[in-house]
Amino acid sequence: MRNRANYSALARVYDHLMRTIDYDSWAKYLFMVHDGYGGRFGSALELAAGSGNISLRLAPKFREYVCSDLSWRMLGQKDVDGASRVACDMTALPFAREFDAMFVVFDSVNYLLEKDRVLAFLNEAARLLGVDGLLHFDASLERNSLRHTTPKRSRRQSNGVAYEQVSRYDRRTKIHTNTFSVEAPNEPRVVERHRQRIYGVKEIVELINASDLELVDCLEGFTFRGCREEGTRAQFIARKEF
Ligand SMILES: C[S@@+](CC[C@H](N)C(=O)[O-])C[C@H]1O[C@@H](n2cnc3c(N)ncnc32)[C@H](O)[C@@H]1O
Repeated sequence: MRNRANYSALARVYDHLMRTIDYDSWAKYLFMVHDGYGGRFGSALELAAGSGNISLRLAPKFREYVCSDLSWRMLGQKDVDGASRVACDMTALPFAREFDAMFVVFDSVNYLLEKDRVLAFLNEAARLLGVDGLLHFDASLERNSLRHTTPKRSRRQSNGVAYEQVSRYDRRTKIHTNTFSVEAPNEPRVVERHRQRIYGVKEIVELINASDLELVDCLEGFTFRGCREEGTRAQFIARKEF
């Protein structure tokens, strides 16, 4: 058995793991939010884009689209027509230019375990946003994790690769851990331990206020209603503070 960096072995089965996720509706929602808040459709940068499931749906809406992710194996899963791909950390972005839109989708910000790292991400976003640029990111909230307070195990198979997931949430530390074990024929079994921190809405708003961004709105995920601490996912919209 080998321990590997997150989203290395898992990249091979990620799309299978997410096969029930309605990315069409998710991308439509993000498009409507960006449009509804007066966003421009020139250039867009997606952070933590993973295997490009949102990218391939949003890229055609923009003149230019850049997908990025910490894991080059995730980025390498598929081509996104007309988009370029850059492997990088969302807390230290290798760009020296501005974007009209930035997206971080599907609990990816929860992978930033310390508040300092969230602040670094927010300040990097502020550095790269143009005058009318908008940052869109979501965060999974505690109610979502509480559904998994007791360990939940599931085993599946995709293209001959078997994988198992054990999900558990520690209410005291606010850390949600997903342990994946991936087994391909004739290869050692690989274990990846994914830890995500579950922040409160108030904590994230405080971090935005402490950053070079200002909050435009915070919505309950997939809706246009104001977000609630008791919701399952919050959708944040922020812009650069001038
Ligand atoms: C749950 S997946 C979401 C992927 C994609 N956004 C989607 O909707 O399918 C989380 C992604 O966050 C990426 N990630 C985690 N930490 C990151 C970081 N510090 N910088 C950039 N990407 C990161 C992982 O590599 C992974 O692809």
